[in-house]
Amino acid sequence: MNETLETMWNRRSVRKYKSDPLPPEHLRLILETARRAPTGGNRQKWRMIVISDPDLRRKTAEACSHQMWMADAAVILCLVTEPGEGQVNGAIVLDQAILAATSLGYGTCWVGAYDADKIREVLDIPDDYGIICLTPVGVSADEPKARPRKSPGELFMREQFGTPIEYDV
Ligand SMILES: Cc1cc2nc3c(=O)[nH]c(=O)nc-3n(C[C@H](O)[C@H](O)[C@H](O)COP(=O)(O)O)c2cc1C
Repeated sequence: MNETLETMWNRRSVRKYKSDPLPPEHLRLILETARRAPTGGNRQKWRMIVISDPDLRRKTAEACSHQMWMADAAVILCLVTEPGEGQVNGAIVLDQAILAATSLGYGTCWVGAYDADKIREVLDIPDDYGIICLTPVGVSADEPKARPRKSPGELFMREQFGTPIEYDV
């Protein structure tokens, strides 16, 4: 197992944060990793909003179905896409940011439960931009257990749809 795989295997959704700040160099590494993400045709039609202001973090958490634990993290990232752009590219970008944050030891959590109108209002996002997902990034105050996954046989198929691929986990 190498460090990259360890990072991906050890990521957990963290829903409890300490208020410790995110050093600027760590934030820079997270943003820079996102910037290097692949996009279809290298279009890069995305923007990431970095929310560190405590009042805005609170309002953002409120707009995310009152998931107020988000506001305790040092920053919240919100991934948006230019008009007409699909969701895939934005999801790849946010995933790279999440894995970069994980590799630096921070907790994160994909947040897709939000009221788009409220998020737009709080973060001043234009109406024609798409909102993909958000994540807090901060020092974890929890050690969540790994959540179960379906077995390989339920997920993987050999050559064509139907024949499961089995292996020992
Ligand atoms: C697109 C997406 C949206 C999600 N939205 C939320 C959310 O709004 N609130 C939350 O607490 N977790 C959310 N999650 C986290 C999932 O519940 C979590 O990834 C899943 O239970 C597996 O747990 P793990 O991330 O610890 O492996 C979301 C995950 C994804 C991928």
